[in-house]
Amino acid sequence: MKIRNFLSKQTVFINDQIKKFIPAGIPEKLFKAMEYSLSAGGKRIRPILVIESAKAVGKEDINDIIDIAVATEFIHTYSLIHDDLPAMDDDDLRRGKPTCHKVFGDAIAILAGDGLQGYAYEIISNNNKVKPEILLKVIKILSNGTGVYGMVAGQAADILHEKENSFNDIDFIHLHKTAKFIQSCCMIGGILGEATEDEIKILEIYGRNIGLAFQIQDDILDEIGDEKKLGKKTKKDREKNKLTYPSVYGLEESKKIAKEYIDEAVKEIKKLKNPDILIEIAEFIINREV
Ligand code: IPE
Ligand code: IPE
Ligand code: MG
Ligand code: MG
Ligand code: MG
Repeated sequence: MKIRNFLSKQTVFINDQIKKFIPAGIPEKLFKAMEYSLSAGGKRIRPILVIESAKAVGKEDINDIIDIAVATEFIHTYSLIHDDLPAMDDDDLRRGKPTCHKVFGDAIAILAGDGLQGYAYEIISNNNKVKPEILLKVIKILSNGTGVYGMVAGQAADILHEKENSFNDIDFIHLHKTAKFIQSCCMIGGILGEATEDEIKILEIYGRNIGLAFQIQDDILDEIGDEKKLGKKTKKDREKNKLTYPSVYGLEESKKIAKEYIDEAVKEIKKLKNPDILIEIAEFIINREV
């Protein structure tokens, strides 16, 4: 329960910060679409992981890295807008509201996603408090985790399985579409906290394991979750021939595997100086209903 209160407070904090970074002075409809999707809610788990990973390696003042945490949420929100498009998962509901393309049309939704992704890197490169060589490492890890070697590859594999049955490696899909981005957020926090290479390796392993568990839990919630709480349609993965953990392993075995990933993540993160919050976040990932 304690971690839920902590995370809710952090979510409110991130929500306030996001507002400061929404780009303005652009075509009104594009601005509205970006603002709409960024403000619709969400757990903000990726920026929270950036900040908490930095703290876990001993960073005390996080004021100089908030913008970088916010940038990860811009990329995540872009990924959701595109994930929901008719050509991809074709979803009408996201974060409890009609999806971006339902409100603003496909073209503006695509551009809002493009805009959010590019602007995330603009935000990072505008940071003038963190050393440029550290910012460069952040950009390298984030672009790797979310780009063609990360989330984009995973999303392509997910869609290729659904539409053509031509891709059948579920672990590739889950690692790339979800875990690599989450792993990047943890590593970025470590880098911003000027962690040692050993500490970053620990965050990498932790991040990969919680990331894999995160997508398994997402798959489980698609089958047994509450649509109202989740703010997105449930029971759509099977209907759409998605390759999910429950479809391959069944529900009970999926829960067991997710728990094993979390146990592995916890075992690893305990090697850090201040692991407590990250341990609780790991456990939250498989206990969450949202
Ligand atoms: C949903 O992500 C998409 C996945 C990668 C599973 P989240 O569960 O983090 O969605 P929000 O941001 O809380 O809405
Ligand atoms: C995660 O997979 C997609 C992203 C990487 C954005 P899903 O397609 O299962 O996510 P939801 O269930 O629509 O949130
Ligand atoms: Mg999808
Ligand atoms: Mg989807
Ligand atoms: Mg899902």
